[in-house]
Amino acid sequence: MQCAALCGAAASGNRKHAMDVSAYDLLSTAVLLLDAEGRIDYANTAAEELFGGSRRMLLGQLALPLLGGDDALRAHFAEALAGRLGVLKHSLTVDRNGVNLPVHLTLVPLPFGQAWSALIEVRVSEQHLLLERHQQLGKDLAAQREVLRNLAHEVKNPLGGIRGAAQLLDSELENPALREYTEVIIAEADRLAHLVDRLSAPQGGSLHKQSFNIHELCERVRTLVSAEFKGIDMRRDYDASLPELSGDFSRLLQALLNIARNAAQALTEHGGDDRGGADPLLLLKTRVARQVLLAQHQARMAVIVSVIDNGPGVPPELADRLFHPLVTGRPSGTGLGLSLAQEFVQQHGGVLEWESRPGHSEFRMILPMEQP
Ligand SMILES: Nc1ncnc2c1ncn2[C@@H]1O[C@H](COP(=O)(O)OP(=O)(O)OP(=O)(O)O)[C@@H](O)[C@H]1O
Ligand SMILES: [Mg+2]
Repeated sequence: MQCAALCGAAASGNRKHAMDVSAYDLLSTAVLLLDAEGRIDYANTAAEELFGGSRRMLLGQLALPLLGGDDALRAHFAEALAGRLGVLKHSLTVDRNGVNLPVHLTLVPLPFGQAWSALIEVRVSEQHLLLERHQQLGKDLAAQREVLRNLAHEVKNPLGGIRGAAQLLDSELENPALREYTEVIIAEADRLAHLVDRLSAPQGGSLHKQSFNIHELCERVRTLVSAEFKGIDMRRDYDASLPELSGDFSRLLQALLNIARNAAQALTEHGGDDRGGADPLLLLKTRVARQVLLAQHQARMAVIVSVIDNGPGVPPELADRLFHPLVTGRPSGTGLGLSLAQEFVQQHGGVLEWESRPGHSEFRMILPMEQP
């Protein structure tokens, strides 16, 4: 373990001591060094954050009560500290600002004669971090959409005025050469109006839920995309045993269509350099997953619909904000497709995930079978 290696080095000489212990502050996992009684002798910055206290407050405290360990940890803690159990690994929850946080703890006893008796590393569960990320993304997107809807609302009226005035002017112009300019104004106003309409369209409201087979939805998307884009090898890999899903068919159709159209656009708007000469391929895949942690809860069972393409991949500079509205990598894109898709999927208690590299992009729509 990285921490144990650092600790061994830290304890081996006084000159190195200060330097190496400060290196723990670079770690994102919490590290505590304990004396023989199990009191905290050192806590790194991540530990301060995790336990919500300053280093000075943590020093001298008994580690076990701070960890709020369960009976199993209490039973083994002293033994582990004395080095009789080897490395102790344990999963538990710690209280962070009143919230129970699932963590994994590793206690490494340090050889006798070193400055400390044990090192404890506390890692917040990956799944929990993912959950926090999903929740934060949901909040960020909702706030951004609200701002954009307000902005769209403000733009709508003057835009109507501009178009109307240009039309009037157009009808009054006698020189046809000047009409070219009014036509540009009208066409651009229409383009903007289309964007404004998409931005301000009410996406909230109650879901019209019905029970349907997810493959019915996939097949609709396949037909629509094949009709719009030619020359793509559209394949499917469906898990026929999937049970029926309850949800708003038209919103989920829109979500999956947005994702599949992106894939088709990526395949047709670029050359095939990243495919190494292979034909453009779009795969629709369905699977079932169990015990999936989603933005709002843990689902016992979820349906995963994947859209996979062998196109050039998502431009790396978009990766951090791909689901944010108005983020686009295409000259003619509005950057609303994925933001809307994420919103619709989240309304069903699900989440959209993706991974991408040149030659392989995969967007997964994860929908819980029982929704909140
Ligand atoms: N499968 C994919 N392969 C490569 N890039 C992708 C893929 N899916 C999405 N992207 C990138 O993500 C960007 C954002 O997609 P999004 O659907 O939100 O907006 P858009 O397609 O640009 O515009 P709109 O969907 O509103 O017409 C795209 O412009 C594209 O650069
Ligand atoms: Mg799109």
